[in-house]
Amino acid sequence: MTDSPDWPNIMQAVHHSAKPHFGSGKVADYIPALACIDPHKFGMTVALGNGEMHCIGDTDEAFSMQSISKIFTLALALQIYGDDLWKRVGREPSGSAFNSIVQLESEKGIPRNPLINAGAIVTTNHLVQHYSENSAHPQGAVGQLLALLQDQAGDKSIAVDEAVALSESETGSRNRSLAHFMSGFGVVQGDIERTLSSYFRQCAVAISCRQLARAALFLAFDGCDPVSGKRVLSSRRCRRINAVMMMSGHYDNSGDFAYRIGLPGKSGVGGGILVVAPGYGTVATWSPGLNEAGTSMVGAIALEELVRKTGWSIFV
Ligand code: DON
Repeated sequence: MTDSPDWPNIMQAVHHSAKPHFGSGKVADYIPALACIDPHKFGMTVALGNGEMHCIGDTDEAFSMQSISKIFTLALALQIYGDDLWKRVGREPSGSAFNSIVQLESEKGIPRNPLINAGAIVTTNHLVQHYSENSAHPQGAVGQLLALLQDQAGDKSIAVDEAVALSESETGSRNRSLAHFMSGFGVVQGDIERTLSSYFRQCAVAISCRQLARAALFLAFDGCDPVSGKRVLSSRRCRRINAVMMMSGHYDNSGDFAYRIGLPGKSGVGGGILVVAPGYGTVATWSPGLNEAGTSMVGAIALEELVRKTGWSIFV
C-alpha cells in the first residue's frame, strides 16, 4: 500500500465497481421484518487508526446487525469467562449453514464455533447467566452489548429495533430447536427462553456502517481503540477473535471470502459485513441482497475492490 492512499479516489472506485451489481442477491425473508428492505441500498465506511472515516453511499442509514452482533457478544463473553468459554463452544469452521443442527448430535451439543447460530446462542447463554446473577448490571446482556457499541462508536443512538426482535422471535423455531437441543446436553444452561430473547434482541440491533466501523476499531488495533486509547480486550483475545472470524465468519462461505478478500470478516443477514484490517482499520459495508450463505453479494464485491486498491489482504 502507498504511504498516503488517495481515499476519495479509492472510495469512488469501490462505488464504481459495486454499482453494476446493485440489487443482486436475495434479501433475507425468513425474518419477515427484514423482507421489505430496499435491495438497492449500498453503503461503506472505512475507519482508520488515525480517526479518519471514509464513507460512500447509504453510510448513515441503520440496518439490522444480525450475526455481526456475535463478534461483540464473543468479546464480552471472553472478557468475563476467558478461556472457560471454550469448554462449551469450539473454534473450528463448521462448513455448514449458519442455522444447521446436523453436527450438534454427534458432537454432544457443543457447537463448532461461536459464529454459527448454535455457538452464538451458547455465548449469549453465558452472558445471560452472568448478568442475571449480577445486580450491578441490571440492564442485562443486551444492555452490555449496547453500552459497548455506543461507547466505542461515541454514539448513544444505537438501539434494538424491537419490531425486528419480535419478528425474529415469532419465526425463531430453528433457533429454539438449537437451544433446546443443546440444553439436552447441558451446553445451554438455565432459562432457555431468556437466552433466546437476548439472542433475538442482539441480532435486532440497528446500526449504520459509520457506527459499526467506528465501534469495531479496537479489533484492528490489538484490542485497544486507537483514537480514544481505551482498551476493550487483551491483545491475545483480540487476535483470537480475528482468527475465528477469518475461519468461520461466513459459515460455508468462509473459504471463498478468505480467497477473495483475505481479511477477517463477519456477515449478517441484514446485509452488513464487518471487516478487520489489522493495523490499518475496519470496514463496514451494507447492501441487503445475500448469497446462499447469507453474505451480502454487493458488499463482498465492494470489499474485493477495496482490498485490491489498498493491498490490505493479510496475505498481501
Ligand atoms: O438467528 C438468525 O438466523 C439471525 N438472527 C442471524 C443469522 C445471520 O445473520 C447469519 N449471517 N449471515
